Amino acid sequence: MATYRRFMLAVRFPPNPHRNLDDTVPNAVVSIPGQPVAGNPSAGEFNFFNVLTEQTVGCKDCHMVPFGTAGGQLGGVEPSDPPDARAGMINGDLVLSFMTDVKVPHLRWAYERFGPVYGTAANPPDRKTGFGYDHEGGVPDLDTFFTALVFHMNAQQLKDTAMYVNYFPTGTKPAVGHQVTVPAGAPPTGSPQDESDLTTMLAVGDSADPNRHCELVAQALQAGRMRSYEYGGGVWIPDSVADPTLTTTALRTNAGSELTFTCATLGAGTRLGLDWDEDGVYNADDCAPVDPNVAGPPTEIMALGSDPASPKNFTWTTTAIPFPSVQYDVFGSTLSSLQAGGLNGIQCVASNLPTPNFADPRPDPDPGDGYYYFVRGKNSCGSGPIGPAVTLPSCP
Ligand code: HEC
Repeated sequence: MATYRRFMLAVRFPPNPHRNLDDTVPNAVVSIPGQPVAGNPSAGEFNFFNVLTEQTVGCKDCHMVPFGTAGGQLGGVEPSDPPDARAGMINGDLVLSFMTDVKVPHLRWAYERFGPVYGTAANPPDRKTGFGYDHEGGVPDLDTFFTALVFHMNAQQLKDTAMYVNYFPTGTKPAVGHQVTVPAGAPPTGSPQDESDLTTMLAVGDSADPNRHCELVAQALQAGRMRSYEYGGGVWIPDSVADPTLTTTALRTNAGSELTFTCATLGAGTRLGLDWDEDGVYNADDCAPVDPNVAGPPTEIMALGSDPASPKNFTWTTTAIPFPSVQYDVFGSTLSSLQAGGLNGIQCVASNLPTPNFADPRPDPDPGDGYYYFVRGKNSCGSGPIGPAVTLPSCP
């Protein structure tokens, strides 16, 4: 159960869809579906953090950000955390609980906790689904919840505070996962929500900013190829180390198609923007950008060693080959052909060997002649060189 508890406490909540993209809350009277009364979330936020709504204490003395739990901590996620749930308990006398000590619940999903309301179709609201608030789930909405005896708020404070709880942060910033697609070239005038969203995403999504909300990446066609970028240090880092960084204006001007901007979760920007398979070679430099075991053809095979006791058996070292999935082809011919026409007579001796060794099954060469060998590696990106520049025969 302790392991399961730790797992559940580490589950991340999605962003609260009511919050603004820059993680602020509206300073205006708003209504949302399911909440009976309108309120001002910004005024409610002030109440939550500054007003002694329960005479001697206020909301924040028990429900602290980021999660709304006691001290803002989940407790028990890290092995060093307090080992049991008591860390999150408060003396039930404070909340007038008849069960005495109760746990301070987190408020990350309060915005979707509306419970059943037993009206009829003819006399709504009639809502048969949902869990509701409080530990037994019996309270259908936040306005009703805050009419409990324990709270000391006037009517306006109650409406605003209830609305703010619907805007409570979830621990994941609203820009996480946000995506906009805009046309290439200069930003269209008179335009749309997408452009203002993009401005916000640039402000909160710089991967070099320690206070970033998310990590912004972009994708667009450039010179006929789909390219991806990560935003870091105020510029766009392209997915090839050979290419220069770009300003947002240059990125949009150069794009050969519309551009899609996505704000990734913290830590995922480089994977989504530059190196999908995380093999350390950026996408445009990687012939297999979604295969972590391959990024280019194998390098030249070195140190081909023959067994002195049985010279047609030999092995080679693979330490210099950077990618693990590789097969081998063996080429060669007789020394007499080498003498007569150089490497022009080279043939395929064996192909697709899975391991770095080969026992030549051919009969021994004629007396006074011999065999020479070259080995090359190959993978899904192509074949490596054998050393000398020569056109090799096909080796299927
Ligand atoms: C003295 C500590 C304390 C204070 C102060 C306090 N709460 Fe709570 N709150 C609790 C506890 C404990 C519960 C759980 C009660 C239960 O389920 O019986 C709770 C429950 C809730 C719930 C229901 C959560 C759920 O999952 O059902 C909400 C919403 C809430 N509080 C919001 C607030 C707001 C807003 C304020 C300020 C106006 C506030 N609380 C002040 C301790 C406190």
